[in-house]
Amino acid sequence: MKTLQKTLAGVGLAVAMAAGASGAHAAEGHGCGSYTDAAGKEHELQCEKAPVDLTNKASIQRGASLFMSYCVGCHSAQYVRYSKMYKDLDIPKELVEKYLMVTTDQVGDHITAGIDPELQKGWFGAQPPDLSSETRLRGEDWVYTYLLGFYEDPSRPWGANNLVLHNVAMPFVLHDMQMNTSKEEYRQNIGDIVNFMAWLAEPMAHKRKVIGVYVLVFLLLLFIPVYFLNKEFWKDVK
Ligand code: HEC
Repeated sequence: MKTLQKTLAGVGLAVAMAAGASGAHAAEGHGCGSYTDAAGKEHELQCEKAPVDLTNKASIQRGASLFMSYCVGCHSAQYVRYSKMYKDLDIPKELVEKYLMVTTDQVGDHITAGIDPELQKGWFGAQPPDLSSETRLRGEDWVYTYLLGFYEDPSRPWGANNLVLHNVAMPFVLHDMQMNTSKEEYRQNIGDIVNFMAWLAEPMAHKRKVIGVYVLVFLLLLFIPVYFLNKEFWKDVK
């Protein structure tokens, strides 16, 4: 009976660990840091609420298009294939091939960065991270506030700085867009980009949960032979 208890406890622990691993970190409670104003006074920066709505396909499609034009030159989103994008987002394959596939000509390829990130590290001083699950890592509101937080700063190598990430290495790539659109349009565009990025991170979240369930079922099934094996081993000892 003791061995059974021990085995049960072991399996219980393994199940708990697997459940923990599959539960992934929820993107909650991210602050957006602080900033110092011209007078040298420090202010807390509240994250702005990102207009994420995964049922708004039109917004995600617009975000996909903007993301492909403005971001994948430097950033990859390598857990996603172009083919998934056109299937899940109902974008005609021809349009994806013509306008969205900027870094490859194979629709089955993953979204890789246009320029080798290692090379960029030399240029910018920091490597542009993969953005596949950025909204889960940092939180949607953080990413939204970050993208809105660029401002001109002649003292920086690329002429721009960021309220959320001080002395950011990323150039102000949306500067021209900001100049050529109204304030509302600019915010909407950034909202669409973040909505697309939230969608990017979402298929993975689903997959992780499915894998978690498989792991649990596997462990429960494994318990049966392990239990009998354990009994067999200890049979002659007592
Ligand atoms: C010219 C290259 C370049 C382009 C284009 C670019 N980025 Fe970046 N990005 C960078 C670099 C370099 C960093 C690293 C910044 C740092 O660590 O200081 C970065 C950092 C980021 C981060 C913060 C990552 C983190 O968690 O610290 C986000 C989010 C991001 N980029 C989103 C975007 C989005 C969205 C676009 C398109 C609108 C974009 N970037 C376009 C170079 C680029």
